[in-house]
Amino acid sequence: MLYTENGKFGKLSVIGLGCWNFGAQWNNKVSEADAIQIIRFAIDNGVNFVDVAESYGFPDGQCEILLGKALLDGYRSKVKIVSKIGWYGRREADFGVSRSKYVRRMANILYNKIFKYKEFDVLKRSPELLRLCGHACCGRLQTPYIDLLLCHDDNPQDMDSFIKAFRILKAEGFIRHYGISTNRINVLKRFQEKSGNECSACECDYSLLNRSAEKEIFPYCQNNKITILTRGALARGLLSGKYNLQTVFNEPSRMSWNVGGSERSNYESYIKKINAIKQNLKTEVVTPYAYKFVFSNEHSPAVVLGSTTLDQIKQNIEIATSRLSEENFKLLTSI
Ligand SMILES: NC(=O)c1ccc[n+]([C@@H]2O[C@H](COP(=O)([O-])OP(=O)(O)OC[C@H]3O[C@@H](n4cnc5c(N)ncnc54)[C@H](OP(=O)(O)O)[C@@H]3O)[C@@H](O)[C@H]2O)c1
Repeated sequence: MLYTENGKFGKLSVIGLGCWNFGAQWNNKVSEADAIQIIRFAIDNGVNFVDVAESYGFPDGQCEILLGKALLDGYRSKVKIVSKIGWYGRREADFGVSRSKYVRRMANILYNKIFKYKEFDVLKRSPELLRLCGHACCGRLQTPYIDLLLCHDDNPQDMDSFIKAFRILKAEGFIRHYGISTNRINVLKRFQEKSGNECSACECDYSLLNRSAEKEIFPYCQNNKITILTRGALARGLLSGKYNLQTVFNEPSRMSWNVGGSERSNYESYIKKINAIKQNLKTEVVTPYAYKFVFSNEHSPAVVLGSTTLDQIKQNIEIATSRLSEENFKLLTSI
C-alpha cells in the first residue's frame, strides 16, 4: 500500500474505503456480512481511513451503523473515520419539507404566514442541531470520536453554523479535525477564512471525467496545508469500462443514466470518452488507470473509493501498490 501525507489530516493510504455503496441505497446489493468482510479486509491490508456520512444508507444513518459494527473487535483503532453532516437535517422526512429549493421556499413562506414568526427559517441549520448531528454520528459509529467531520453541503448558506458546531465538537472531544466537501473554490476559501485556517481537509469530485479540481482546488489546498480527499475516481463505476450504451441501471443512484434519465446525455459523452481511453491504452479494463491517474497527481490526493465485492477491494488494494508510469500519465492527461 502506498501512503500520502498532504496536509493537516496526516498520513493516509492512497486509497480509503467509501461506505456509501453499503446500506441499501444501492438496492441492497451488498449484505451486511459482506460489507463487514470488505471493510475488515481493506483495513487488514493497509487501508487506514474510511469514509461515510450521516445521510448514507436507507434509512439515513444506516451506513454509519454498519461501519460501527465492522469497526468492533479492535478495528476502530486501526483506521481514521471521515464522516459528514449537513444533509440529514434537511431531508424530506425531517421537517416535512423537500430538499427542492422551490418547495422549501414555499414551506418557509407558509410557515411565516401561519405562525407570523418572520425570523424562523426552515432552511437554516443551527449550530446546536449540527452539534447534535455530530454526537449522533459518534453514537451510530460506536466511537468516542470521529477523526474528521466534513460539512456535506457543498455551498452552505449557513457556514457560520457549521464552523461554530465543529469548534464546539472539537472542544468537547467528539471530533479531531473538520473540513468541507465541495468542488467550489470560493466556498472552500470562505470556509478556510471563516474557520481561521482550521480547515483540515477538502473532499472533492475528481476523475478522468471531471478534472476541474486541478485548476484551483488542488493548488489552494496544497498552499494551505489542507488535505485533499477525492471521490468518484471511477465515476460511480463508469470508469471501470464495463458499462456501455445498452446497460440498464437499477440502483437509484445510477438510474438517471438510463435512456430518458436526467443524466443520459452526460452518460453518452462519458461512454464516448471511455471508449477513446480504451483505444489509446489498448485495454478493456480501465479501473487501474482511472485510480492511479488520481493518486499519481502531483498534489498527492488520497482517493475515497467504493468497492461492492471482496474481489473489487482485493483488486483495488493491488492497484494501490504502484503509481502510473510517466508515459501513461502523459497519455491520459492528453485525452
Ligand atoms: N463527499 C461527497 O459528497 C461524496 C459523494 C459521493 C461519494 N462519496 C464517497 O466516495 C465513495 C466512492 O464513491 P463512488 O461510488 O462514486 O466511487 P467510485 O470509486 O467512482 O465507484 C465505485 C463503484 O465502482 C465499481 N468498482 C469499484 N471497484 C471496482 C473494480 N476493481 N472493478 C470494477 N468496478 C469497480 C463498483 O460499482 P459496481 O461494481 O456496482 O459497478 C463501486 O461501487 C463513496 O462510497 C462515498 O464514501 C462522497
